[in-house]
Amino acid sequence: MAEPFVIAIDGPAGAGKGTLARRLADHFHLNLLDTGLSYRAVAHRMLQEDLPLDDPAAAEGTARNLDLGRLDRDVLSAHAVGEAASQVAVYPEVRRILVEKQRAFAATPPGAVLDGRDIGTVVCPDADVKLFVTASPEVRARRRLAEIEARHGTADLAQVLADIERRDTRDMGRADSPLRPADDAHLLDTSEMDIETAFLTARAIVEVALEGRDGI
Ligand code: DC
Repeated sequence: MAEPFVIAIDGPAGAGKGTLARRLADHFHLNLLDTGLSYRAVAHRMLQEDLPLDDPAAAEGTARNLDLGRLDRDVLSAHAVGEAASQVAVYPEVRRILVEKQRAFAATPPGAVLDGRDIGTVVCPDADVKLFVTASPEVRARRRLAEIEARHGTADLAQVLADIERRDTRDMGRADSPLRPADDAHLLDTSEMDIETAFLTARAIVEVALEGRDGI
């Protein structure tokens, strides 16, 4: 059997990497892991149990007990959970524990698409394909607002933009595994692209990487 084939997708919140990851996983019949959900699950459990987010030992214990096979996107997608996830994601021990689980997932045949902040740089530095997906903060804020409104919620564009900028600063500025493109990542700016165009562009990049390989 061929070695597991791994596609690493990184980028800031709201750039469209989740949708892209799902489309690529469906198309190439690969497993899919949204690694943001693992940080969200740790934060969510801590909020539920009234554990202080600024306690690294509590975050570490929560991370250790996490089962990546049991992540409930509906519960974890709440805005407040994303904010809390960004806070617990700064702890090196939490990252070490979650990265180990993510690597085991990536190594499971036939391979996987993983999306997050540090996949191409830390989790899977030998990934077959690395994509770094970005869009301007304004475009990402407008997309987030549209998502919230589609779920019949309401939010203020300026507020959503401020939240996105704060998350970017924290995710790019942390000492351990900051968000940055791997040196060998393909950059994909989706500011002016719809999802179909982004998917076709990414698919073409993956197909080049698959040339010379005996399938997935
Ligand atoms: O992609 P997301 O919004 O679900 O991610 C939530 C937070 O988790 C994000 O602000 C930073 C953190 N995260 C991380 O540090 N490393 C990852 N690979 C994925 C997410």
